[in-house]
Amino acid sequence: MKYQLTDSDRQWAEKTYEKIKTKIKAESERMGSKIPYIAENGVYREDKDQTNIAWWTNGFWPGILWQMYHAEKDECFKEAARGVEKKLDRALHEYTGLHHDVGFMWLHSAVADYRLTKDEQSRARGLHAANLLAGRYNPRGKFIRSWNEDRAGWVIVDSMMNIPLLYWAKEETGDPRFEYIAMDHGDTVMNLTVRGDGSCNHIIVLDPATGELLETPGGQGYGSGSSWSRGQAWAVYGFALSYRHTGKRDYLDTAKQVASYFLAQTDRTGHVALVDFRAPKELVYWDSTAGVCAACGMLEIARHVPEAERDFYVDGALGILKATDERFCDWDPSRDSIVQMGTGSYHSENDRHVPIIYGDYFFIEAVLRLLDREFLIW
Ligand code: GLY
Repeated sequence: MKYQLTDSDRQWAEKTYEKIKTKIKAESERMGSKIPYIAENGVYREDKDQTNIAWWTNGFWPGILWQMYHAEKDECFKEAARGVEKKLDRALHEYTGLHHDVGFMWLHSAVADYRLTKDEQSRARGLHAANLLAGRYNPRGKFIRSWNEDRAGWVIVDSMMNIPLLYWAKEETGDPRFEYIAMDHGDTVMNLTVRGDGSCNHIIVLDPATGELLETPGGQGYGSGSSWSRGQAWAVYGFALSYRHTGKRDYLDTAKQVASYFLAQTDRTGHVALVDFRAPKELVYWDSTAGVCAACGMLEIARHVPEAERDFYVDGALGILKATDERFCDWDPSRDSIVQMGTGSYHSENDRHVPIIYGDYFFIEAVLRLLDREFLIW
């Protein structure tokens, strides 16, 4: 076992995994290759294939299915995941509307498929997506632009979770350009989004001609200078993954710094995350998805630190996961979605305190990690 769990922690993880299995099996029978996003009253609101095939979260359902296929070898998970992968071809073909989140979309679908089955068409899809991401690189500013239209110099910290697609492409093709781009981008994000106390900006706006930092808008958090919790989670896990792929020590140190900050914040609120750690004390808005993503990052960090440091990150992750289970999980197999109380962004009511598909993905990945049964999708 990678993590030395106490008997009671292992029992919790095993019991929780059994509930995950029952729930996802029932959901996959209902959903098949539909593309879920947000659930309301136990039913996924829409099929993203019908509403927005380029939506950034469209890889998380196949990601869940590939994790379950890897753990259970049940063909029904594979078939459903493949169905989504084929639907996503339309997004590649249309191209318009694609963004820096192609990592979230194709690491969890085509690349996961290729890693597990060696399917050549899936490999081609993954490389296609990696080239689209690399094509967003700005060599003057040394960053990958995040969004489209007139935002040529905008970079968001979430991007750290997408660049593992470039590390995969470098490994797969042997072409080091993919890694150069990923590391240039990682360095820029590390130097300009992470603050001295371990908190992060969500957005940095750079001059696309020079890379000079122009401003730091609030983005999905409360406002400029605040601390959007999911952004902090993306930094914890994203930098830990960049360390895993490159061995660059600064990335691990950054992941540890942001993780310590994250845990200091969630220790004050019963081990679950507010949407923004620097929002006014009232109103209280939660984002369960930030905690479960950060927990995966902490479990990744735990793999790379000396034994004496390991428990800090494993216990931190377990605290968040157990609190999420107690307060926010719905285990009824007849209802869609496990992790409730996710929030898309601080100021938007439509996606406040709702179950969002990536909350389930990260919760499941974290539990599988504790049991040493995960498959590295990143
Ligand atoms: N852009 C990714 C997120 O909402 O976290």
